[in-house]
Amino acid sequence: MTKRDYLTVDSLSAEELTKVLDLADEFKANRQRSAAGTGRQGASAQGHTVDLRGLSIGMIFEKPSTRTRVSFEVGISELGAKAVVLSAGELQLGRGETIEDTARVLSGYLHALVVRTFAQSRLETLASAGSIPVINALSDFSHPCQALADLQTIREHSGDLHGLKLSYLGDGNNVAHSLLEAGAMAGMHVAVGSPAGYEPDGQVVRQATEVAVRSGGRITVTNDPLEAARDADAVYTDVWTSMGQESENDSRTRVLRPFQVGAQVMQAAKPDALVLHCLPAHRGEEITAEVMDGPNSVVFEQAGNRLHSQKALLAFLLA
Ligand code: CP
Repeated sequence: MTKRDYLTVDSLSAEELTKVLDLADEFKANRQRSAAGTGRQGASAQGHTVDLRGLSIGMIFEKPSTRTRVSFEVGISELGAKAVVLSAGELQLGRGETIEDTARVLSGYLHALVVRTFAQSRLETLASAGSIPVINALSDFSHPCQALADLQTIREHSGDLHGLKLSYLGDGNNVAHSLLEAGAMAGMHVAVGSPAGYEPDGQVVRQATEVAVRSGGRITVTNDPLEAARDADAVYTDVWTSMGQESENDSRTRVLRPFQVGAQVMQAAKPDALVLHCLPAHRGEEITAEVMDGPNSVVFEQAGNRLHSQKALLAFLLA
């Protein structure tokens, strides 16, 4: 059987994306039933039991993580598999062993690899040199696991994603790239508001636009935050300084300040617009405390959905 990787959201087809989201909802419902003592955690997948017993899944984190690392490790355990968690410093990779050799060796022991790293090309090399599925747990270019939880959360609150306007305000970063891909596949209007010079990658925008034309969605990119937020069903933001950009913090804070998600932005959106943030959040920078902790905020549900959507992804790729 051909192995499947998840390196960007469009590693899945639109139909497969919907299937993973449906499965994520099932996992969530099953876990809630299990917590209530009336169900079994791992049971799911259109009536079939998902059981990954006997599988070992490697997790390599070359950058810090709270949500991704913990939700994957718990999810792997709940599916019956074993997580082998490794930091780059523990591997010979950190001492010059090639990515290709690492991929070939680990393919002999493990059944999948979850990797958080810097360049997207490192993931692509791991995926092409190895024979096991590689899952992108964040790179400088994309964060496709985050996008699964984001869509799951919006769908739970707003129903059908098709036609909804999702406004992303701030740095056109890895999170923005994956939202553009996922939103376009789901037929959403993804509106990105970023300052000049901080827009998302042009190739990602072009590809998402092509996908949106087919799905009935729409992609817009503007330098005007209120235009991006106008009549939005959901407003999303992320930190202004991503991991590895700390030396740019002062200039980024100055340029991105008008894109803060606060009262003015929320007034431009629909009154019941959801507020999302991939976390960690810096209250008073990209989002005000009032909005982050306000009644429209679903950020902690969104973080919780990382667990269910990643279990669904693992089940889809491995079961
Ligand atoms: N949103 C997210 O990926 O969080 P972590 O960096 O804590 O994993």
